[in-house]
Amino acid sequence: MKKILGFALILCLCLGMLACGKGERADDAENKEETGEISEESKIDYLVLVNKLNPLPDGFEEALETVTITNSVGDEVEVEKKAYEAYEKLKNDLEVNEGIYTELDSARRSVAEQQRIMDEFTTKYGADYAAKTVAQPGYSEHHTGLALDLYFKVKADDGSFIDVYENEDMEKDEYLSIWSKIHEKLATYGFILRYLEGKEHITGYRYEPWHIRYVGSSDIAGEIMSRPGLTFEEYTGGRQMADVTINLGTSALYSREELTDAMLAIKCKFAAFPGCELLSIDYAGDEAVTDENLEWLNTVSQGASYTKIAKFTMDFRTESENTGTLNPDSEYNDYGWWLAKEDGGDWEVVTFGYGHQ
Ligand code: DAL
Ligand code: ZN
Repeated sequence: MKKILGFALILCLCLGMLACGKGERADDAENKEETGEISEESKIDYLVLVNKLNPLPDGFEEALETVTITNSVGDEVEVEKKAYEAYEKLKNDLEVNEGIYTELDSARRSVAEQQRIMDEFTTKYGADYAAKTVAQPGYSEHHTGLALDLYFKVKADDGSFIDVYENEDMEKDEYLSIWSKIHEKLATYGFILRYLEGKEHITGYRYEPWHIRYVGSSDIAGEIMSRPGLTFEEYTGGRQMADVTINLGTSALYSREELTDAMLAIKCKFAAFPGCELLSIDYAGDEAVTDENLEWLNTVSQGASYTKIAKFTMDFRTESENTGTLNPDSEYNDYGWWLAKEDGGDWEVVTFGYGHQ
């Protein structure tokens, strides 16, 4: 019998409440023209959900129409056509009314480009940061052409413009008001903020003020953006990071927050398992936290000085194809996950599988 956590129940209730109204569109042609709405029969699904559990659907790219532009640092950026038309209007509004000059850093990405970014981030920031910031190739919303990463230009004292471009620069407190002015205008042009603060357990990613998503209509975007904290996962009711049974149990060693962080690290890693559906994750209990196991994990990760360890077990199912080395059409139960962290560090998945009990 699977254990069901309170938050799963709350989630169901929320989804039930949200099942109403996925887009009764206002019948205002003039307004639609101004805000870049989709007026003709859509060739693609503008509400497609791509996340750690949902890859880009087969055939999506065949109907995709894109435009390619060059940004202020000379990079070419490819964007879905309607999303770009809407973005131009958003950009113009921000420039004229707020004096904010946005640019597109990245929009549509191929699987190869996503892999390049994953490799770059892993080298630059480490695997844990990369897993919370960059999607696995095939599982990035950027493959749709509907996800846009923004950056902006600010005026220097001499009147010239400086590009604020790197993640760590764009996240500085001094730019908070710029982001909030940008975010306020998103819904008007059919965009939502995709990776919200405090919603990592649902979206699977840390907060990204720059990553916006075109959803095809200002009505739908407005419905989502007017509910603070509502994720696209919850709105669409699709498979999401919180859509599995989680049992963190009780621990005398670790806080709930620490166990949640560990569970997220597992989910991020599991997202790279091809053709697998996650069913449940359980904390295996404090009894697995022994000196012997600590020593073993420090041996497994040569050079590591772990001081904390934890074991989780997982149930998951494989699909009929593309399951890599796993058996197709099978259910795996009590699959082990060993995590460890150093003093002041984050949880790392050290090893997984049926090997060590
Ligand atoms: N930064 C987002 C999660 C991506 O890589 O698709
Ligand atoms: Zn992005």
